[in-house]
Amino acid sequence: MNLYQTLLQPLVFNRLNADPEAVHQQLIRTCAWIDRHGDRFPAAFLKQQLRQQLTLETPQLQQQLWGLEFPNPVGLAAGFDKDGVAAGLWASFGFGFAEVGTVTAQAQPGNPRPRLFRLPLDRAAINRMGFNNQGAAAMAATLKARNTQSVPLGINLGKSKITPLEQAVEDYLSSFQLLQDWGDYFVVNVSSPNTPGLRSLQTEAQLAPILAALSQANQARKPLLVKIAPDLEWAEIAAIVDLAQKYDLAGIIATNTTIARSGLKTKIIVQTGQAVADEAGGLSGAPLQQRSTEVIRFIYQQTQGQLPIIGVGGIFTAADAWAKIAAGASLIQVYTGWVYEGPWMVRQILQGLQFRLAERGIKSLQEAIGTALT
Ligand SMILES: Cc1cc2nc3c(=O)[nH]c(=O)nc-3n(C[C@H](O)[C@H](O)[C@H](O)COP(=O)(O)O)c2cc1C
Repeated sequence: MNLYQTLLQPLVFNRLNADPEAVHQQLIRTCAWIDRHGDRFPAAFLKQQLRQQLTLETPQLQQQLWGLEFPNPVGLAAGFDKDGVAAGLWASFGFGFAEVGTVTAQAQPGNPRPRLFRLPLDRAAINRMGFNNQGAAAMAATLKARNTQSVPLGINLGKSKITPLEQAVEDYLSSFQLLQDWGDYFVVNVSSPNTPGLRSLQTEAQLAPILAALSQANQARKPLLVKIAPDLEWAEIAAIVDLAQKYDLAGIIATNTTIARSGLKTKIIVQTGQAVADEAGGLSGAPLQQRSTEVIRFIYQQTQGQLPIIGVGGIFTAADAWAKIAAGASLIQVYTGWVYEGPWMVRQILQGLQFRLAERGIKSLQEAIGTALT
């Protein structure tokens, strides 16, 4: 137990029980304020304190990927900073990259609250936020005005709820066109369980035209990735891998949250009194860990390690991160684990990864990718 878990986390979680989203919103507002005022006191001081406490210089963990310089492999997963309002600050929390969004072409409120639930017994969360965000134009204005960002920034694109599935291509395309100058890489998110029909866009027939349109519009040849669900069958994943290769995608993000509910200790959601199995949404955190690692391994094997993978799902510790890298992930992302473990988690993971490299006599992280399979 560290300071965060003994003192802060109970406070944070108690408030979350009253209104699960309130703490998150407060945190994002504070981070956005620090980011906006980061060049003068007191925000500059706070930013410097964060850096001092939470970052770690890790030359062995640096990586060049897609022509971008990643100072370390641990990124902030999509959904945390949906509008990119603190995009410039995430490096100060120790992250080697950050992914903002999901952003949609149209601003939208998301699903009715409550829509975010914690399952502490399972070190998990269920959310059905439904892509609440201010829209692609607002994000473009925010990112244009931001302070310089020192780590790569990904932008995760989703479909607006009001846009019919048949017009998904135009919807993704219009977000991409508005934002293409402001991100270092882009993600086609077709795997959230919280927008009706969205996951059907993972089928070859529906995904191909989206990838074709974005590839064609991609003047600056920014890396394009697709983020997939853990609930797909192997054949469906294999078809997406084929498409990724056909459209020369930069990589795959595996995985989004799951609609499965098996093996949970939590039976009732405290906030609603509902049975967990009846509470719609995507499950994240520890229960997702194994499945997401399996998906990473499968993609790595299918592609003989030729297609970079960003691994995400249930990472809490360096051991969890190492398992994803050894299964084939070049980079990893965290969300739920970070909320449970606190802001020191990134640094602890980096230290643990450094230790594992040293223990095995491996000089750089790249050499560790996919080693569980060789
Ligand atoms: C509250 C919440 C909101 C999320 N919103 C998004 C989102 O907007 N877009 C997206 O691609 N993934 C979203 N995710 C999924 C995460 O990016 C990640 O893929 C998933 O939570 C698994 O990682 P974890 O176990 O470390 O949380 C969200 C997750 C949570 C918990």
